[in-house]
Amino acid sequence: MSVSTKTDGTELGNLSLIAAHSHITGLGLDDHLQPKEASQGMVGQLSARRAAGVILKMIQKGKIAGRAILIAGPPSTGKTAIAMGLSQNLGSNVPFTAIAGSEIFSKELSKTEALNQAFRKSIGVRIKEETELIQGEVVEIQIDRSLTGGHKQGKLTIRTTDMETIYELGNKMIDELTKEKVIAGDVISIDKSNGKITKLGRSYTRARDYDAMGPDTKFVSCPEGELQTRKEVVHTVSLHEIDVINSRQQGFLALFSGDTGEIRSEVREQINSKVAEWKEEGKADIIPGVLFIDEVHMLDIECFSYINTALEDEFAPVVIMATNRGISKTRGTNYKSPHGLPLDLLDRTIIIKTEPYNENDISKILKIRSQEEETDFNDDALSLLTKIGMETSLRYASNLIAVSYQISKKRRSEKVEVSDVMRSYELFYDSARSVQFLEDNGSQYIDDDGNVNIGQKSDDQMDTSN
Ligand SMILES: Nc1ncnc2c1ncn2[C@@H]1O[C@H](COP(=O)(O)OP(=O)(O)OP(=O)(O)O)[C@@H](O)[C@H]1O
Ligand SMILES: [Mg+2]
Repeated sequence: MSVSTKTDGTELGNLSLIAAHSHITGLGLDDHLQPKEASQGMVGQLSARRAAGVILKMIQKGKIAGRAILIAGPPSTGKTAIAMGLSQNLGSNVPFTAIAGSEIFSKELSKTEALNQAFRKSIGVRIKEETELIQGEVVEIQIDRSLTGGHKQGKLTIRTTDMETIYELGNKMIDELTKEKVIAGDVISIDKSNGKITKLGRSYTRARDYDAMGPDTKFVSCPEGELQTRKEVVHTVSLHEIDVINSRQQGFLALFSGDTGEIRSEVREQINSKVAEWKEEGKADIIPGVLFIDEVHMLDIECFSYINTALEDEFAPVVIMATNRGISKTRGTNYKSPHGLPLDLLDRTIIIKTEPYNENDISKILKIRSQEEETDFNDDALSLLTKIGMETSLRYASNLIAVSYQISKKRRSEKVEVSDVMRSYELFYDSARSVQFLEDNGSQYIDDDGNVNIGQKSDDQMDTSN
């Protein structure tokens, strides 16, 4: 049997995504879902944010499962940022899965399996279960250890105001009691299904017995009535987690190593019908979440056709896609289409557009970013950075923040000044200058046919060196 400890890498992918957008804590909307000019780290881009707010509301009401949304606009106009803001506003109760289009191809899974897993990670199942609890005040714990220490035995005496019972303890319960540091006088709750113990507090009746109690000791009264009670507990898992736990060849361990492999379709079918059954019986609720596919133009025609069908599944999430492509080729085909999406998918998609930023917005975003990166730019340096942002791109200007800061630190300056920004602009090329440089000096690089002139300044010097 082979044991794998590989992780699937998606966690790392998401990490860098978050770092670039760490200043964003939501869409920045007011109570009527109107975007505020600057709030929650978001600036401008008002109509796209308003549209995202409407989607947010509909997702929260569980109204638009199985729908597709495309955020389209030029590079660095905040498409990814808006999706991140939306996910923050949704909160932790609605599943949100973010992947980049290219990720689908980098896995050991087939493209469609990787997509399928992403879809199922985005569907939550809220399961209601009744568990039996034993709740009472501990009267006495008695533990006998064997000489070797391996085997333990013991008795727990526990009471309510109306009754008192003695339970035999096994190894597991003794460990649990020791771990939770339960002593006589504690009011505890034991979950009978898994043996978990929760300390509810100390009993009032013992309030005066001990003086070795911390100031944060919580006092509760001794429970009344029966020792055994029933309670409804609710927990939420994604369909994908249920798949993993139940796909036998992977086993439970797969959940921790992250390497799930392909999941057989029979397993999924069984789980779907079971979940549907629970839903009928009122034991479970389906929470359609969001699957965000960034850089969606990286997907190919097979992936798009998979998405088309997956959207019709009874458990479909909301699919939000983002792209900066205009009319371009759909991968795996020879035809061009708007945003590189095949027309049948585009047809069922509602589109949110992002617009290029004006100077004011760029300045504000750069300011927020510089604060987020814990740097201090003086006003002139920030205006220069804004000017660079206008003429090159917002992202290039953002990248200069950290660099300029390092340069200013070398001068032991508290603040980043114009000279630091100028220096970093000289040191690091933006794309336009890089293109210009290649046009001038292209012959020194390796071209598509493998030709290169090492050490040559220009073509006409070639002959002399041979
Ligand atoms: N309206 C905004 N308010 C605050 N920060 C923003 C806003 N728009 C963009 N940003 C920030 O600017 C940077 C670039 O934006 P983002 O990555 O969202 O662009 P994008 O539209 O996804 O670009 P691409 O097409 O290249 O993927 C990010 O750091 C992002 O957090
Ligand atoms: Mg993006």
